[in-house]
Amino acid sequence: MRNLNKIIVSDCFDFMKATEDECVDLAVLDPPYFLNKGDWDTFSSEQAFFEFTFLWIDALLPKLKRGSSLYIFNTPYNCAKIFNFLIQKEYLLFQNWITWDKRDGFSHTKNRFIPNQETVLFFSKGSPNVFNADDVRVAYESKDRIAHAAKKGIVKNGKRWFPNPNGKLCGDVWHITSERHKNKVNGKVQKMSHATPKPTEMLERIIRASSNEGDVVFDCFVGSGTTALVSKVLGRNFLCADSSEEFVSLANDSLHGINRKMVVKSPSMQKALFIADKKRG
Ligand SMILES: C[S@@+](CC[C@H](N)C(=O)[O-])C[C@H]1O[C@@H](n2cnc3c(N)ncnc32)[C@H](O)[C@@H]1O
Repeated sequence: MRNLNKIIVSDCFDFMKATEDECVDLAVLDPPYFLNKGDWDTFSSEQAFFEFTFLWIDALLPKLKRGSSLYIFNTPYNCAKIFNFLIQKEYLLFQNWITWDKRDGFSHTKNRFIPNQETVLFFSKGSPNVFNADDVRVAYESKDRIAHAAKKGIVKNGKRWFPNPNGKLCGDVWHITSERHKNKVNGKVQKMSHATPKPTEMLERIIRASSNEGDVVFDCFVGSGTTALVSKVLGRNFLCADSSEEFVSLANDSLHGINRKMVVKSPSMQKALFIADKKRG
């Protein structure tokens, strides 16, 4: 397959043209949001932004396999419009409206509540082939009650229930601290090499849940390379591109190990990285 397991410099439309139809198992798209984060995020009007957005979505859909999963990131406002666009495609099935609680804020506005969430839309092309719910369990919140239940169980509907040692099933509100917030020094935002990197924990959850080892993960707005890096560590194949030479170079540095240990922070990713490195010898 052309461009497999590489990150290349390409406009999204050229990249999709170069990609075979029906070859993608999981598409994860973190496109421009029209928040003027850089030249790449600037549009002449809201109409121009949505024209671009709907055009790339239409170019992407034929590339998805039947049973594949599609995740699209954006602001809640933009996702409301993107949702309306996607729901009209009769072969797409809505799965989740995921709210990402960023533990941070876009602004300090006092005119309304601070917008500190983003949306991740999850659709599938027909019934999803894969959803590994047990691979993305999260910690129980009530530690004391769970410790008690682990010893003796709790009677629920006449049956004795014991907590799952790997935690509870994951809900559709994700509390994951943004990279921008994690990297603050004394409360001050630091300039990062990419303005909007997604946390690896977030890509890890999506990729573990909606793909299996050896599957093909697609991202034509890969930026600092998070999707490619997490795919590689988890033994998935990837097709990744970005229109910026600077970001592709950054993404390749991260992929080939220059700052990989810094990027891969979660214990489960570190474990997966250790296993992957061991397999390679
Ligand atoms: C929100 S960022 C993605 C960040 C990425 N998820 C990460 O973790 O670093 C969007 C990316 O889309 C790229 N982009 C914008 N317009 C594009 C286009 N027409 N074709 C390909 N990439 C584009 C930008 O260069 C930017 O890196």
